[in-house]
Amino acid sequence: MNKNVLVTGGAGFIGSNFIRYLQENAPETKIINLDLLTYAGSLENLKDLPAPKNYTFVKGDICDQPLVERLLRENQIDTIVHFAAESHVDRSLKGPGAFVQTNIVGTYALLEAARQVWLKENPGSSDIYRFHHISTDEVFGTLSPTDPAFEECTPYAPNSPYAASKASSDHLVRSYAHSFGLPITISNCSNNYGPYQFPEKLIPLMILNALTGKPLPIYGDGMQIRDWLYVEDHCEAIWKIVHEGKLGESYNIGGGNQPPNIEIVKTICAILDELAPTADHTPHEQLITYVTDRPGHDRRYAMNIEKISRELDWQPKYDLKTGLHKTVKWYLENIDWLNAIIEEKDYQNWVQINYQRRDN
Ligand code: NAD
Ligand code: DAU
Repeated sequence: MNKNVLVTGGAGFIGSNFIRYLQENAPETKIINLDLLTYAGSLENLKDLPAPKNYTFVKGDICDQPLVERLLRENQIDTIVHFAAESHVDRSLKGPGAFVQTNIVGTYALLEAARQVWLKENPGSSDIYRFHHISTDEVFGTLSPTDPAFEECTPYAPNSPYAASKASSDHLVRSYAHSFGLPITISNCSNNYGPYQFPEKLIPLMILNALTGKPLPIYGDGMQIRDWLYVEDHCEAIWKIVHEGKLGESYNIGGGNQPPNIEIVKTICAILDELAPTADHTPHEQLITYVTDRPGHDRRYAMNIEKISRELDWQPKYDLKTGLHKTVKWYLENIDWLNAIIEEKDYQNWVQINYQRRDN
């Protein structure tokens, strides 16, 4: 079992769920969480961890290679699980620069730090290390309704600046294995949902807007398809790959839940009608509002997860109905967490900017 893990981006949505997963399932693991606390990261996501003595937070930038090298040396890090990124497609359409900087330059700085400390300072011991890179299904582009699901060997065809920056970082990671022998694995995952997701992404945004009686903005015709995965399932898959995945390989991860967006939103509305029946806005479906489509909007994603199922015996545990119910309930019980975000200036600014995009 790996003992000293550097998690990057651990104050974000999936990273914080992953840290909680590790603390619950492998509490002896020492975790260093390196996070810049951008608008998307919050220490509120990491309150009440079950094994706090094995957890340290470091505020810093993954682009700061000397800092990363120091953390690797001082903490004898043997495993890096790299989540830190700019993660929102709509924001990448407004300002791609931050995506190039964090997702590409930041991944390069981490790879280079690992090469210096692991390979150059400790030659011959590369088999004790692991650099696991978290990526996305969006690197594969888009599918037509009849195309087969993405496989690990599907050619890359990223369509948004976000997807292109992640594709670029995947290629860099792969090249460090091929050129320098860095012990890497990559996972490409579909859309996650669950607790602590920032309310700019579809599911938490719909929950928040429904609760506050705001329009539920459906881009285009709402018939776009994503492959939804409950975040805890993703965390389990990542930890399996870190331990049992073959070096140099990539693994697709997906949930097998592929209804169109409009159906997801209607399901959320129905769950809210059930869990918050006295809200002013019931039935919540009345808030659904069709808006201008996202430019270059990918029509359909679907993941073929045969490889991870066959090689690592991993399958998602949650179906969409159970996962969505659990998620809506979590947001209802953590309304203070949501309120803290919406009170921030950055969040209000983003809402303004995103609505202007639709009008222009
Ligand atoms: P998120 O936006 O919720 O969190 C990103 C975290 O990275 C934040 O805590 C932020 O503060 C931190 N960060 C950003 N720039 C940083 C920097 N320069 N240095 C250090 N920390 C920095 O993202 P998420 O949804 O949790 O996604 C995590 C990873 O998973 C990303 O790499 C994303 O591409 C990938 N992914 C996400 C999904 C999804 O559905 N959310 C699906 C597949 C893959
Ligand atoms: O597929 C994996 C990717 O999933 C991750 O790599 C990204 O980090 C993550 O943000 C997510 O990207 P999407 O663009 O698919 O997620 P988002 O929640 O922004 O949108 C999901 C779908 O819902 C998409 O088809 C756009 C649509 N949508 C989204 C928002 C925010 C709407 O119709 N209305 C909205 O207001």
